[in-house]
Amino acid sequence: MTTTGAAPYGFWLAGREAGSEDTFDVANPWDGSLVGRVAVPSEEQVEQAVAAADAVKNAFSATPAHVRAAALDHVSRRLAERAEELALLITAENGKPLKWSRAEVGRAVSVFRWAAEEARRFNSGDSQRLDTDAGGVGRLALTRRFPYGPVLGIAPFNFPLNLVAHKVAPALAVGAPIVLKPAPATPLSALLLGELLAETEGLPEGSWSVLPVPNDRMTALVQDPRLPVISFTGSDTVGHRIQDSVPRKRVTLELGGNAAAVVLADWSSEEDLEWAATRIAAFSNYQAGQSCISVQRVIADAAVYDRLAEKVVEKVRAQVTGDPANPATDVGPLVSEAAAQRVSDWVDDAVAKGAKLLTGGPREGSSYPPTVLADLPGDAVLAGAEAFGPVLSLHRVNGAEEAFAAVNDSRFGLQAGVFTHDLQLAFRAHRALEVGGVIIGDAPSYRADQMPYGGVKDSGHGREGVKYAMEDYTYERVMVLTGLDL
Ligand code: SIN
Repeated sequence: MTTTGAAPYGFWLAGREAGSEDTFDVANPWDGSLVGRVAVPSEEQVEQAVAAADAVKNAFSATPAHVRAAALDHVSRRLAERAEELALLITAENGKPLKWSRAEVGRAVSVFRWAAEEARRFNSGDSQRLDTDAGGVGRLALTRRFPYGPVLGIAPFNFPLNLVAHKVAPALAVGAPIVLKPAPATPLSALLLGELLAETEGLPEGSWSVLPVPNDRMTALVQDPRLPVISFTGSDTVGHRIQDSVPRKRVTLELGGNAAAVVLADWSSEEDLEWAATRIAAFSNYQAGQSCISVQRVIADAAVYDRLAEKVVEKVRAQVTGDPANPATDVGPLVSEAAAQRVSDWVDDAVAKGAKLLTGGPREGSSYPPTVLADLPGDAVLAGAEAFGPVLSLHRVNGAEEAFAAVNDSRFGLQAGVFTHDLQLAFRAHRALEVGGVIIGDAPSYRADQMPYGGVKDSGHGREGVKYAMEDYTYERVMVLTGLDL
């Protein structure tokens, strides 16, 4: 991959490196320095990539499992070998603190490893006897899954490597070609991943492309009938616009959230509250709150509210802010000054409408200090929107039912954390909460990459988590065998 000097990063067209005259710059959100210059694929080059994906789809779907699995294993190994370089690149292009960038690379290693394992298991088939009715005597149904066709993966800026991995690895595992569009703010990690994919053997030409096309050229890709599957992660506004523009396509949407951490009355010992406050403080601020499952709302029973609030504020104040390249930093900048200004405006709006600012603010360039609000009024923007910044609000409730109702009083439903020791309450939460995932005894931000991950309501539909994305990219096709001596 071309990365040296002033030469722009190439992109990946049907598995080969390509370039163009047109370029854009990727700036470090912390200090504005140039991280890299990226070549932009022309319309003809995009057409070549899509045509190649379409041309190879049948052959790729028929590739032996061991070939796909070996390629995925290779990428997993190479990600591990180049982990530090990748972590530094994520930090430079995204502003994510190095400790979180390292964690992200570790997760991508695991996503590709899981994909290799799932590729080996995938499509072993499922059989059903049909002689349960007289008309089916001697008949057997054999069901296997096949890709709908090439996938258009549209990735966000907040996990420039791992959310790309969650689109690419499952597609390759099922033998579906993928055209990946990284976020314009953070394309470099995806382009480096392309380098590792290019080292593999056995993935046919056209089975993958990484195309840093600008957002204003995305519509043509979304509309292209040769890309029948779209896997999008990003804002609900853009996700819903995509879905509405192609209602007949298979679209999976991983959208926003305003995740809640519920602390119930039984979670009351000193040790309990220390743990809850530590996790809440860390996960409302990791990546400056720019995760769809960062803690935005703390819903605490009145029995523990005051003690918890004191600890949360103390631990939020203790977050180490500053240069994301410093390994000690907990909270770095947001992705841009505009993003930090939006957070600042929303905090000001909340305070103007009556919220109490317990700690936080004001904005410093592209950074916004970790912030805690109490008494957030229902008409504040932050009461309904996804903050996507280092801001949380504290809410006092009476009892589990009121707490669960407060979680559900949101147009989003991605994940929730419930701090309780009571197994009955855990099961009640699992039943009652309108979210894609309930984490007991921890913050809502916990995600293991093989778990089903996705939302309900305005948080989207479809699931990631390698095996689940593989299901989303494929459909069941049944074959009936007749005349059998069963
Ligand atoms: C997201 O922001 O949706 C991804 C969160 C994660 O993968 O941890």
